Amino acid sequence: MNTDSKKIKISPIKKGTVIDHIRKGQALKVVKILGIMEQDIDSVVSIAMNVDSSSGRKDIVKVEGRELIHEELDKISLISPEVTVNIIDDYKVRDKHRVKPPKMVKGIVRCKNTTCITNQKEPVEPEFEVTQGKPVTIKCLYCEREMRGEEISENLR
Ligand code: CTP
Ligand code: ZN
Repeated sequence: MNTDSKKIKISPIKKGTVIDHIRKGQALKVVKILGIMEQDIDSVVSIAMNVDSSSGRKDIVKVEGRELIHEELDKISLISPEVTVNIIDDYKVRDKHRVKPPKMVKGIVRCKNTTCITNQKEPVEPEFEVTQGKPVTIKCLYCEREMRGEEISENLR
């Protein structure tokens, strides 16, 4: 096998979005965020896990035929802030940007504190301040509980 065929694990796409440099092991969480497992979507989705990159191993998710919405990008930024989002058109990378955790996180994460006012019968919409970028840390505005890492990904709404 020559080096080229070793390198190419999943095919380039014609049009759509490549979510690259996903922290290794997080690809399926990205897939879940995109709602791919729940919906009968038409897009072709490719997932590569644990592939070589310049700085170790990474995961990649490719979604054909669509771009991501703001809420999806915010969620991805919370679980894997090193991600780059590549917009592909006619096989070319038309746009490349990093995701950036927002300053405030509203509605997309549940507070891990079960007695928090945001988890009661008539719930208040959960809202957090992003207090740290590495690792991403969020703090509930109501009970001041801090969450990071798995706690965030397990509590995505
Ligand atoms: N890609 C793709 N289909 C295309 C073009 C690119 O799936 N038609 C993928 C590449 O495989 C890569 C990502 O989109 O995973 C970004 O492509 P490119 O910018 O060409 O790669 P790099 O320069 O390696 O990106 P970076 O510098 O962000 O690591
Ligand atoms: Zn709370």
